[in-house]
Amino acid sequence: MRVISGRVFFRGRLEPLSIGIDETGQIAAIKKVLRGDEQIDHGDALILPGCVDLHVHMRDPGLRRKEDFPSGTRSAAIGGVTTVADMPNTLPEVTTTTALDAKAAELRGRAAVDYALYAAPRSPEAVSRLANAVAFKVYMAESTGSLQVTVPRMEAIFRAAEAQGKLVAVHAEDPGKFTQQKAKDLRGYDAARPKVAEETAVATLARIRGEARVHVAHVTCVEALDRVPGTATCEVTPHHLFLDSSKPLGARGKVNPPLRSPADRDALWDAFRKGRIDAVASDHAPHTIEEKSVPFEEAPAGLPGVATTFPLLMRRIRTGGLDLPRLVSAMAVRPAEILGIAKGTIEVGRNGDFIVVDPRNIEAVTANRVRYKCGWTPFEGMEGCFPRTVYLRGETIVDDGEVVSEGQGRLIPASS
Ligand code: NCD
Ligand code: ZN
Ligand code: ZN
Repeated sequence: MRVISGRVFFRGRLEPLSIGIDETGQIAAIKKVLRGDEQIDHGDALILPGCVDLHVHMRDPGLRRKEDFPSGTRSAAIGGVTTVADMPNTLPEVTTTTALDAKAAELRGRAAVDYALYAAPRSPEAVSRLANAVAFKVYMAESTGSLQVTVPRMEAIFRAAEAQGKLVAVHAEDPGKFTQQKAKDLRGYDAARPKVAEETAVATLARIRGEARVHVAHVTCVEALDRVPGTATCEVTPHHLFLDSSKPLGARGKVNPPLRSPADRDALWDAFRKGRIDAVASDHAPHTIEEKSVPFEEAPAGLPGVATTFPLLMRRIRTGGLDLPRLVSAMAVRPAEILGIAKGTIEVGRNGDFIVVDPRNIEAVTANRVRYKCGWTPFEGMEGCFPRTVYLRGETIVDDGEVVSEGQGRLIPASS
């Protein structure tokens, strides 16, 4: 047995404890004192559950010039994320079992962290065929890809998914509320895909969701949040929490739904801190520097973030804005529950996925530090607190902040 000790986040609070990992990588015991063949003592550093990022676009297969599974999951590991759920707007788009099986085959042995796959059913029949996907994704508006469905279609998909009890994550923007104006900057983009488009879309899905397990992706404003029904779940992205339309990011800050005003961002932070938002998800959506270096209106929407979500939020613990249980809930416990996977908690019987972090270890976020294939981060220069060590099923995958083991990530089957 491998024994790892430190100040462990266990059952909602920090305690000096030892975690015993068996040969299958599962947590076999959690005690004050444990003896094992191998003892690793992290002293007074914090041991937190590995983060679960339920919304990433690793661009593999089909768009590997932007990112690929090895590079994207390495960056995830650097940022303390031990499980990612990958979106279906890869090429071919994951709308059929053929595409889903081919994607799973393609990714095998190439991930640094564990991963789950979304599918995008375009009909109720496809919902039953795509049962091997961990969750479904529905786009109410055009974003990167061509997966948009009409509201009646979405309703039919909800009815079919309801019977399966499977999660349906929704990109909620009502294209009927978009303006025809071509946006030239971030404020213009906010006006072109306004908050009311999001608010209306969330109201629509609230009306037709029935018993379906609906999850609202990337909520950007309290107006939309107020419409999320109590029985649905929602996520916020780090870019909507840490960036806004006043930042000099140009096309690099172009994302769907758009960055909002500083006042909207403040209100969103407040809602998040108060526990009104279930999860933080990066919506890691890399595009290359070349693709972003064209006139604003032609640039693709999306920005990278899988490696910086945890470090940026962890930094906020020290500066007083956020408490640790809230962070752990939003980055590990709730996303795993929302996806319905056995991850996100340090508990006997769970996988030994955890991260070791020293809150005093503050670094600047740089493109070099996060290692994205696209070579840039919108959070350049901001302060972050990166994990020192990361364990996946008890094996060290990040040591001293750098990836030391690759290809160990496994596909998480549906209803694991
Ligand atoms: C995402 C992408 O590029 O895949 N873009 C984005 O602006 N968020 C798609 C999406 O999540 O809408
Ligand atoms: Zn989206
Ligand atoms: Zn997305």
